[in-house]
Amino acid sequence: MTSAVTVPGSVTVRAPAKVNLELDVGPRRGDGFHALSTVYMAVGLYDEVTVATADDWEVAVSGPYADRVPTDDTNLALIAAKALAAEVGVAEPVSIRIHKDIPVAGGMAGGSADAAAALVACDHLWGAGLAREQLVALGAALGSDVPFAMSGGIAMGSGRGEQLAPVLARGTFYWVFAVSSSGLSTPAVYAECDRLRGKALIAAPEPSAAMMTALRSGDPEALGRALSNDLQDAAISLRPTLREVLDAGQEFGALGSIVSGSGPTVAFLTASAEAALDLCVSLAASGVAGEVKRAKAPVHGAQVLPGPSRV
Ligand code: C5P
Repeated sequence: MTSAVTVPGSVTVRAPAKVNLELDVGPRRGDGFHALSTVYMAVGLYDEVTVATADDWEVAVSGPYADRVPTDDTNLALIAAKALAAEVGVAEPVSIRIHKDIPVAGGMAGGSADAAAALVACDHLWGAGLAREQLVALGAALGSDVPFAMSGGIAMGSGRGEQLAPVLARGTFYWVFAVSSSGLSTPAVYAECDRLRGKALIAAPEPSAAMMTALRSGDPEALGRALSNDLQDAAISLRPTLREVLDAGQEFGALGSIVSGSGPTVAFLTASAEAALDLCVSLAASGVAGEVKRAKAPVHGAQVLPGPSRV
């Protein structure tokens, strides 16, 4: 556990993980990205990012996945903070503290959440007052999922995932996540998807009517049936044990089971908070899943926390 200490002149922002309710992967584009049609849902698993003025740029990470996050120049929160500093002409460095609760390389956009949080936090710390669209544009250049980590809720994503549009949706949903002890590389999963598809002609991606109807109704059973992910076969091909995890969820009564994004986290939709707790117990007892987490959704995107900072 970390202790909560107030740091004068620091700003803390928390940003949520996501699950893709639908991930329709189209053809590979000229720039190497794949055209997507996706529906994102922000789930109540959060990273917290605290920024404070410092003598040098630095990053420190705490939380259960801390040892798997780089603290060098490849850290996405650091890249985001430097990009904003360059954009608004700030010369002073910041120290960045990340408390990670979102699995690393888990298909839940943890790195994007950190980048989104760092942008919002630095904007606040420096009083830059950038318009949301400007922060979103900066974020989109850093990662396809960063704009959604800022907006949260439920949204459709197109382009490479960064172009967001609202979705008519209602209801609260209860998820369980089976987190693997080692991650999968997103580029490797997309490459495996291409390999499995071979020379097949791939249609332009589009949202499904079943997903839109399920979200409009707010019915978790309909949503469970409508879940789909074109990257799932590729993730299973690279990590065959995921098949057993998916099957266990179905066997223990999940309304739907799906690999989250590029995986390897597996997301299970349940009917209620109690059903989610029951599923956690069954999965843990079966030994098939690694770590098991629960979260409610949808939740807000990156938000400044009013309380004391976590250091
Ligand atoms: O945008 P992001 O940093 O999440 O992308 C990581 C990698 O995932 C890309 O370099 C690319 O290999 C793959 N990707 C893709 N098509 C997308 C999004 C990501 O091929 N729409």
